Amino acid sequence: MSLRASLDVVPTGAALGAEIRRVDLRAIDDGVFAAIHDAWLAHQVLLFRGQTLSDADLIAFSRCFGELDHAPMQETGRRFVEGHPELYVVSNVVENGIPIGSLGAGEAVWHTDMSYLPDPPKASVLMAREVPSQGGDTSFCTMYGALETLPDSLRARVAHLRVKHDGTYNSGGYVRAGLTPTDDPRMAPGTLHPLICVHPETGRRHLYLGRRRNAWLEGLSLEESDALLDQIWETATNDALTWRHHWRVGDVVMWDNRCVMHRRDAFDPHARRVMHRTQIKGDRRAGA
Ligand code: SIN
Repeated sequence: MSLRASLDVVPTGAALGAEIRRVDLRAIDDGVFAAIHDAWLAHQVLLFRGQTLSDADLIAFSRCFGELDHAPMQETGRRFVEGHPELYVVSNVVENGIPIGSLGAGEAVWHTDMSYLPDPPKASVLMAREVPSQGGDTSFCTMYGALETLPDSLRARVAHLRVKHDGTYNSGGYVRAGLTPTDDPRMAPGTLHPLICVHPETGRRHLYLGRRRNAWLEGLSLEESDALLDQIWETATNDALTWRHHWRVGDVVMWDNRCVMHRRDAFDPHARRVMHRTQIKGDRRAGA
């Protein structure tokens, strides 16, 4: 007898993403969790609207999927939420002269969370606490689709290469605390990961990219690496492979950080945007 509950899963109609309706994430049993987990693997990004999670609730829901990573440091070197080292705050709000979170109000470029680490999180869960009426949308792109649409000749050329995932800059373009910036990707701090990976749970092959800035294909000249990466990035972030989400307060969005990249639009710096994020520890990726 299956333990899985039956969920109201509404696909976005785009290349990835689905909304799960009529679930309160404060109270999920094993059957609901199993169904959410299946939907997450199938759709890569899940949206839950109208949630009223405290920080402790957000952490508890995230822990259903595994142990949590500590949040990365803010640009200023601070951690964000006293007592909750797992919570990363994404915000442009400044209180008493100190930013309460990261990434400001500008664009956050396409990226995979924390991929500059040897074992990046497998998932991120982002909850909207305050949002601007316009701007600040977050887009997601499928890296399964990216690999499938890569031209055959390009796929053959890069199939066995590793790519350097830069740790110098965050997706808002800010230098990470304690680092001296360099724009030579060969020298920059970061981690090499296989460019094509096998998803450890679905068994599907996908591209694995971090951030375009300071990326480098191991063993190639910078010129050749840049030319190939530009083509790969253009394919991977093509509109046909993306889904854009316009936030409401109470939205929780969870993505598979192994096979999805995301970016965020800029918004009015005078508006307030406050988002709380958790990161679920990874399972080391295998090259394909
Ligand atoms: C993030 O990169 O995790 C933040 C995305 C957002 O601000 O919507």
